[in-house]
Amino acid sequence: MTRRYSRIAGTGSFLPPRRVTNAELAADLARCGIETSDEWIVERTGIRARHFADPDVASSDLGAEAARRALAAAGVQPGEIDLIIVATSTPDVVFPSTAAILQHKLGIAGCPAFDVQAVCSGFIHALAVADAMIQSGAASKSLVVGAEVFSRILDFSDRTTCVLFGDGAGAVILEASGWPGILATDLHADGGLVNILCVPGNVAGGRVLGDPFVRMEGQLVFKHAITVLGETARAVLAKAGKTEADIDWLVPHQANIRIMLGSAKKLHLPPEKMIVTVDQHGNTSAASVPLALDSGVRAGQIKRGQTLLLEAVGGGLTWGAVLAVF
Ligand code: UT7
Repeated sequence: MTRRYSRIAGTGSFLPPRRVTNAELAADLARCGIETSDEWIVERTGIRARHFADPDVASSDLGAEAARRALAAAGVQPGEIDLIIVATSTPDVVFPSTAAILQHKLGIAGCPAFDVQAVCSGFIHALAVADAMIQSGAASKSLVVGAEVFSRILDFSDRTTCVLFGDGAGAVILEASGWPGILATDLHADGGLVNILCVPGNVAGGRVLGDPFVRMEGQLVFKHAITVLGETARAVLAKAGKTEADIDWLVPHQANIRIMLGSAKKLHLPPEKMIVTVDQHGNTSAASVPLALDSGVRAGQIKRGQTLLLEAVGGGLTWGAVLAVF
């Protein structure tokens, strides 16, 4: 009996139109007495600009637009989708899930729709769950989305975080196939590190309790990121019986160009084999990997039949990788 794989049938992405350069952000922050510069941001992170959504735009709006583009690229009608998973840390509301809201915006009903919360590695987790459900026969055509309005949880008086993040969404249509497809997935978490990257607040009794903004010990996250990304990349290759030489494209989480280049170097990949969007998008958390994937596909860099290594690390800490033939 032939194995049942899941394969990426189409990709899509969407960025809110308002693009804010480092210089514009630095000028806005200076008006509030916060000092930063284009030079510092570019040198330490590789970020040159990010997109911010208008106040009335939610993650489900960005995600629905990315989903429509992925559906069109795959030649799939919304009504054919039998599973929706949205990875987000900035859901529209506490509940119901952003996935349920997005499902309705696509004009469909009935199929399972739920969110996955693994912060910046959320899309990798969502893709692994969808892959497992397709392999098991529980789904055949799934929509997997990473969507964020991270600007809503940024403290613009904290220059160590507010210059790093942006808003956006990316999506893939994953469908059952006799051919790969996703070759292997690898997921991890270490809750002992919850405090180094978190939004330590919640809603209770009609009020926000605690601190509702992103807090990060950047250097610690940086150090752990380099280690765990190397480990998960090696693990997913081993699971698939592949080697570094089989990778055509590294599609990493777009948090910091220095972490990304470090990951590529560990895999003995030249920087030309890595998709880079961090310069234009900043860190869009769960949206970053699908945004980078779609950008590589639409730019004609990523071609059918090529092998992709997708990897990410985020709050939790959580981390993981997906190895797939596109
Ligand atoms: O998406 C989830 C995963 N997240 C990540 O992977 C992020 C990982 N961490 C990082 O990318 C980096 O640690 C940062 C980009 C957050 C920071 O870069 P760094 O090279 O680790 O800088 P640093 O924290 O060591 O700060 C160096 C200096 C400090 O000044 P002093 O103490 O040396 O005088 C900071 O106060 O840079 C200062 N600084 C800034 N200066 C201008 C921090 N933020 C800024 C800023 N503008 N925005």
